[in-house]
Amino acid sequence: MNKKIAILKGDGIGPEIVGEALKVLEKIASKYCHTFEYSYVDIGGCSIDKYGVPITKEGMELCKNADAVLLGAVGGPKWDSCAPEIRPEKALLAVRKELNLFANLRPTKLFPQLVSASPLKKDIIDNGIDLLIVRELTGGIYFGERSTETIDGTVVSKDVMSYSEFEIERIGRVAFETALKRNKKIASVDKANVLDTSRLWRRVMHRLSEEYNDVDYFDVLVDNCAMQLIKAPSQFDVIVTENMFGDILSDEASMLTGSIGMMPSASLSSDSRGMYEPIHGSAPDIAGLDVANPIGTILSVAMMLRYSFDMKNEADVIENAVESVLNKGYRTADIIQDGMKKVTCSEMGTLIANEI
Ligand code: IPM
Ligand code: MG
Repeated sequence: MNKKIAILKGDGIGPEIVGEALKVLEKIASKYCHTFEYSYVDIGGCSIDKYGVPITKEGMELCKNADAVLLGAVGGPKWDSCAPEIRPEKALLAVRKELNLFANLRPTKLFPQLVSASPLKKDIIDNGIDLLIVRELTGGIYFGERSTETIDGTVVSKDVMSYSEFEIERIGRVAFETALKRNKKIASVDKANVLDTSRLWRRVMHRLSEEYNDVDYFDVLVDNCAMQLIKAPSQFDVIVTENMFGDILSDEASMLTGSIGMMPSASLSSDSRGMYEPIHGSAPDIAGLDVANPIGTILSVAMMLRYSFDMKNEADVIENAVESVLNKGYRTADIIQDGMKKVTCSEMGTLIANEI
């Protein structure tokens, strides 16, 4: 197969981790006779430095014309004082919106090899952690109107959170369909005791749950969910939630598995196109040191093959390669433990590519 991939390395550790993911992708290409055509697009701070905007129109077009987008990470303290309209993160949100990537899948799986890297006590994670956060990605407070004005001598800022029934149903269907392929269990997370958007969310989810009556459905308030994720994480299978709650809960959930550096994500539209990225940020403090964990990005490539290119076997091969490198005791700094072999970011990428 021949596929066009837009490569957005971004800032901080972005170029390093994407470089390792490309090693893996090239190995897959040569082993399975695929051709991956890359177009490189600057995004985030590096684009602001070059062009004065976090992504150019040409860059956005390349993303739109690709079969899939692979992203490293954006942002860093250097650009924290940029005007809100040109912040690095603005480009990421723009790509999500322009490509209509409304469904963000964030699988959170505890690799058995990393049980002791999890901050949770062993008896809490003994039942395993294998959950999938389905985060709505193009609505809610991230995309509502914002304003800052002075009223009666004091500065007032507003960020509007709004959801339509259409947007909720659309993400709800993705979640229910995904649940059918997993353990047929969904927790829908909201703040329906306070927010109108959440009350609408709950009404729509209840309607869907009647339609999908094979799926075991329950509602959880977001604050309670934050607590339950620590107390009894194995009760969850699919978690569906709105944009900001999903952002917060996915960072929390990732930590249960030992390191946020392990976690991939897929952002999908209603066709097969998608953007794939690790859920962590640009980690400017370790950028350029070759110590980052590339596994989240490498597993994101596996998701790309699975969801956008329908290459299930190749995706499995990458996931198995990651497992076997972990089995052999290789660890990057974030997941290092006594008795394990510490490797750099580039060594980890090479080890995984060599397993393929
Ligand atoms: C994420 C990130 C982004 C988000 C930032 C970088 C805008 O935290 O993908 O989780 O908040 O969605
Ligand atoms: Mg986040």
